[in-house]
Amino acid sequence: MLNKKVEQILNVQVEKEGYSSNLYLAMASWAETMGYEGISNWMHAQAEEEREHMLKLIGYINERGGKAVIPAFDQPPGEYKSVKAMFEQVLEHEQYVSKLINDIVEVCEQEKDYTTNNWIQWFVTEQIEEEASANNILDKLNMLGDGPLYMFDRDIMNMRGEHEE
Ligand code: FEO
Repeated sequence: MLNKKVEQILNVQVEKEGYSSNLYLAMASWAETMGYEGISNWMHAQAEEEREHMLKLIGYINERGGKAVIPAFDQPPGEYKSVKAMFEQVLEHEQYVSKLINDIVEVCEQEKDYTTNNWIQWFVTEQIEEEASANNILDKLNMLGDGPLYMFDRDIMNMRGEHEE
């Protein structure tokens, strides 16, 4: 049976991952309206990944005898100052998610839930990749400065392979 405190914090994370998915979908939509097809595809792929993270949590909670709660989500921002500002927000958001995952590890340790602690390590590793991926893109954008993003938009999907499986 899933420890109540662990169940609670995992359910909080269901909302966080679902919100992440919607946030990246909002970014995908914005990029689409700006004519950045590659960036939009990257964000769509990212939104799908976040949805999978949410489903993974829901599956685990229910499988362990808990009850997953499907929450309402806040509306993500629909406007971004620039592509760079948007990716800065991605990095900031992923750093925030990493902190949340670490908090889950802490609760697992406090509650001596070694099973969930072991299971959540997948997310710990995933967060290293997510932060690295956003950092990598920001490095490229910083190199480009204020230049045109045509090539960047064309090549961004290839950058997914560098850090994700
Ligand atoms: Fe599922 Fe990007 O955190």
